[in-house]
Amino acid sequence: MHPMLNIAVKAARRAGSIINRASNNLDVLRVERKGQSDFVSEVDRAAEQAIVEVLLEAYPNHAILAEEGGATGDSEFQWIIDPLDGTTNFLHGFPQYAISIALQHNGVLTQGVIFDPVHNDLFTATRGSGAFLNDRRIRVGKRIQLSDALIGTGFPYSDFTHLDSYLAMFKDLLQKTAGLRRPGAAALDLAYVACGRFDGFWELGLKPWDVAAGALLVQEAGGLVSDLGGNEGYLESGNLIAGSPKIFGQLLQALQPHLNDALTR
Ligand code: IPD
Ligand code: CA
Ligand code: CA
Repeated sequence: MHPMLNIAVKAARRAGSIINRASNNLDVLRVERKGQSDFVSEVDRAAEQAIVEVLLEAYPNHAILAEEGGATGDSEFQWIIDPLDGTTNFLHGFPQYAISIALQHNGVLTQGVIFDPVHNDLFTATRGSGAFLNDRRIRVGKRIQLSDALIGTGFPYSDFTHLDSYLAMFKDLLQKTAGLRRPGAAALDLAYVACGRFDGFWELGLKPWDVAAGALLVQEAGGLVSDLGGNEGYLESGNLIAGSPKIFGQLLQALQPHLNDALTR
């Protein structure tokens, strides 16, 4: 395992222990509202602190972009961290959430870890070396037709600017696929695309920490990732499509009629 990936795994497991411990005492958790349906708990903060500590202990000069603490440091290496992706699920005891840690080197994603502490599923990828689930190589799904595909998505939940476009996409894809699912943790959704549990995924308005590790996992598992226009730039726009090569193309095409200018930028 690449030494930087190894450190990221150590950080993710440390955060996983904090999250698992707290999941036994959900009723005493302090929770704040960041916005409509947007929550942060003391667990998000404690997990992030533990991750940053492990990373900076190994690499004191690296920069950090983390959901709760924002951007710090200035380096060609930047860690992109979501300490708890799926906070709403976590707060409800709904067992679908994960820790997501990625490393960018000069703007290129090079390492990615997504750890699901409930199922003890560790997804890892290093650019050029493939993607793994608990040390076994994973690949995207083999289905060929969108009509046979299981597609993951995320609902708009705090910014409703593109709600009508999203609902039009949803209505169309409900009728064109074998099924849609909204599990509630975008990082895990992408990990599921990487291991073939989902054939594809799309969501609007994501943040870099939701998708950085997952995008690398999908690519290293043989899949494709783009923004809604089929271009790179999904880390900036937050609008993302991912899938196995066959399903990706059909998903991209199916979404095109519902795009407006703001969504393709
Ligand atoms: C959220 C989850 C959710 C997605 C949201 C994200 P958080 O992350 O990934 O599935 O639909 O867009 O913000 O806030 O739980 O870390
Ligand atoms: Ca998130
Ligand atoms: Ca989060």
